[in-house]
Amino acid sequence: MSRRMLPILVVTAGLSSLASASAQGRQGRQAQLPEGNGKAQVEAACSKCHGVDRVTSNGDTREGWAALIASMVTLPKQEAEVITEYLGKNFPTSPKPPAVIVPGPVTVSIKEWVVPSLGSRPHDPLATRDGAIWWTGMWANVVGRLDPKTGQMKEYPLKTPKSGPHGLTADKDGNIWYTGNTASLVGKLDPKTGAITEYKMPDPAARDPHTPIFDRKGNLWFTLQGANMVGRIIPSTGEVKVVSAPSPRTNPYGMVTDSKDTPWFVQFNVNKIASIDPVTMAITEHTLPNAETRPRRLAISSDDVIWYADYSRGYLGRFDTKTGKTTEYPSPSGPRSQPYGIAVTSDDIVWYSESAVSPNTLVRFDPKTEKFQTWPIPSGGGVVRNMMKTVDGKNLVMACSGVNRVAFVEVGIRTSR
Ligand code: HEC
Repeated sequence: MSRRMLPILVVTAGLSSLASASAQGRQGRQAQLPEGNGKAQVEAACSKCHGVDRVTSNGDTREGWAALIASMVTLPKQEAEVITEYLGKNFPTSPKPPAVIVPGPVTVSIKEWVVPSLGSRPHDPLATRDGAIWWTGMWANVVGRLDPKTGQMKEYPLKTPKSGPHGLTADKDGNIWYTGNTASLVGKLDPKTGAITEYKMPDPAARDPHTPIFDRKGNLWFTLQGANMVGRIIPSTGEVKVVSAPSPRTNPYGMVTDSKDTPWFVQFNVNKIASIDPVTMAITEHTLPNAETRPRRLAISSDDVIWYADYSRGYLGRFDTKTGKTTEYPSPSGPRSQPYGIAVTSDDIVWYSESAVSPNTLVRFDPKTEKFQTWPIPSGGGVVRNMMKTVDGKNLVMACSGVNRVAFVEVGIRTSR
């Protein structure tokens, strides 16, 4: 398999496993499970939401398996023990590349919470002004809210079944907006009443709404990955407009706005970054230097420099929106580390997660010194699909999808240089 093919396959696999999740009770692909006490129980209990291949492509200690299973499904005690024993014996070590931990001058504290709906795949996190942490429970069709001070959580059921809540953002009035990835809609949740307003796409081809962001005028911009489009909703009029990217099948993915309120997005299926004219919605694509680059998410610093996570090559990229100049830095855990969720804090420090290493890491990159520092995510992370800075810009929130958790990262004081 050529490396170019990889991201396409990854995306397809993600969508098909979601499709099988929505077909209640459908069996997943049957991977090879070794004979032994517990095999039948794993086949029965662990193929409801995804294939058994998801299980066999993982590995952990007995304790690690016990914690993972508890975040995924509620089982009678004895059955859970048989499964834990079987998986601990047959899949004792992770096949994922090991995380490379780079020491450095900064301390962080990472706190995680298992969300109420098990196996819900928290996709995007969001920190709001009131100190709450929100998440999209993609496979449970909920949007959830956590008060990190008390640990209290509430899940809001969505209007359309199998919406596939994915991306997450908030407007100035405190409404929570999400992309309904599977149902091709954008939704607005009023947290006070739980009421949901849905915006349908104006074109049947406009499927897979993905990452939503507000510009400063209060317009909502979003990517539509599978449709190769980007869209805009003007909430005051309800107008929804979508336009196609110039190049075919580019998979528009993460999105940000710059200091002039121009939206930028990465094109995950090609090596491109694009900007959108906020008035005409004309799209300009910029080609990144390496043909194998697959930018999955991006963040922007106060100098309008875009930082992108090069998922296929394991690089952190820097793209200057003013000059078009690109610089790339190999990620600490190497070419197979799959950098994914990324954010820039208000001090212009870049943070992201390496999503394919065991455990997933939190990475800090200081653009001034060009130095990395990394930390293991306590739960293992289970693919950190997205992270956001808090409203004060100092700390971070993360969604740890595979282990059904949301996380708060408190960034501590720099201890030395
Ligand atoms: C209620 C649905 C559901 C059930 C039942 C379920 N899972 Fe999962 N599981 C999920 C979801 C959702 C994910 C995240 C998938 C993703 O992010 O692509 C996941 C991911 C995983 C992963 C990958 C974690 C990682 O670190 O990336 C493993 C391993 C796993 N499940 C094992 C199991 C085992 C073992 C069982 C049976 C005891 C099980 N699952 C039953 C929903 C479920």
